[in-house]
Amino acid sequence: MYVLGIESSCDETSVAIVEDGRRVLSCETNSSLNRHKEFGGIVPEIASRMQLETICCAADLAVKEAGIKLKNIKLVAFTEEPGLPGSLLVGISFAKALSFSLKIPFLGVNHLHSHIYASFLEAEKIAKPFVSLIVSGGHTSLFYVQDFNKIKVLGFTQDDACGEAFDKVAKILGLEYPGGPYIEKMAKKGDPKKIKFKCSQTNAVLDFSFSGIKTAVLYLIRDRHIQIYKKTDIAASFQESVIDCLVKKSLLACKAKRVKSMVVGGGVAANNRLRNKFNEVFSRTDIKVYFPEKSLCMDNAAMVAGLGYQLFKKTLLENR
Ligand code: KG4
Ligand code: ZN
Repeated sequence: MYVLGIESSCDETSVAIVEDGRRVLSCETNSSLNRHKEFGGIVPEIASRMQLETICCAADLAVKEAGIKLKNIKLVAFTEEPGLPGSLLVGISFAKALSFSLKIPFLGVNHLHSHIYASFLEAEKIAKPFVSLIVSGGHTSLFYVQDFNKIKVLGFTQDDACGEAFDKVAKILGLEYPGGPYIEKMAKKGDPKKIKFKCSQTNAVLDFSFSGIKTAVLYLIRDRHIQIYKKTDIAASFQESVIDCLVKKSLLACKAKRVKSMVVGGGVAANNRLRNKFNEVFSRTDIKVYFPEKSLCMDNAAMVAGLGYQLFKKTLLENR
């Protein structure tokens, strides 16, 4: 069954065709990122205007690249929430118009749940239930997943999201936006043990807090310790402390829920140090860890189409 997916929750306009929830036939993604760089963050009005301009073209290309006809599509899935309201509205309106004209159903999916699903695309089967960590520019959450329609939040950030902390620290270090990939590059040349940064304690053990560590970096620079420490060491030490915290809490959640699979997703999951550290720590346990392909860590419509297919199938079964 061919599903057309639409993702427009932030700066991306993405349309994909996915077969039977797993095979990605096409995924056409445009980003308005370059237009936001001078502002150091996403400007919602610029994002939604560009999505309005590009969504038709992206859908056209996605269908052509998949080598199918519009009439072969059986479902339109779109990101329903959370996201920028104007951006979501573009995707939702396009999905509804397409579904109406093709006389096929449409289905809205949760953005974070679709990040969880990214590991199921073009990949081996993952045993359920599992714990999932989603680390992106807007969110840092731990989930307990019994099934795609049975997902429970175990913990989330009390302040900055993990990607947001990378972006803010990058700005403090004079790097470009979005800062995650630049911090990763700089960290490769630094000593991760040089400075002891610590993520703040949280009341609930599976929650996260990153604003303290970001402020610690800020004070280090403000108080001119930059003359003592190299920027590369600051980047490496910051990255290491954040990853340590993510790995520790994920392992804790897996043990508490007694699961045998751990699924990591979201933009920050593209970070090589994070992937290596998870693999290293989890290889000492009987819990298997999974990541999406790097291109599927960022916002994309393939994960939306894939999850849409699974939820649609479940609804059909339940209504039989
Ligand atoms: O999932 P995503 O594409 O968008 C949201 O839903 O937010 O994630 C974007 C975030 C940005 O904060 C970016 O800095 C971060 O993911 N990111 C990274 C890396 N690549 C992207 N953070 C650390 N290391 C990376 N390699
Ligand atoms: Zn995202």
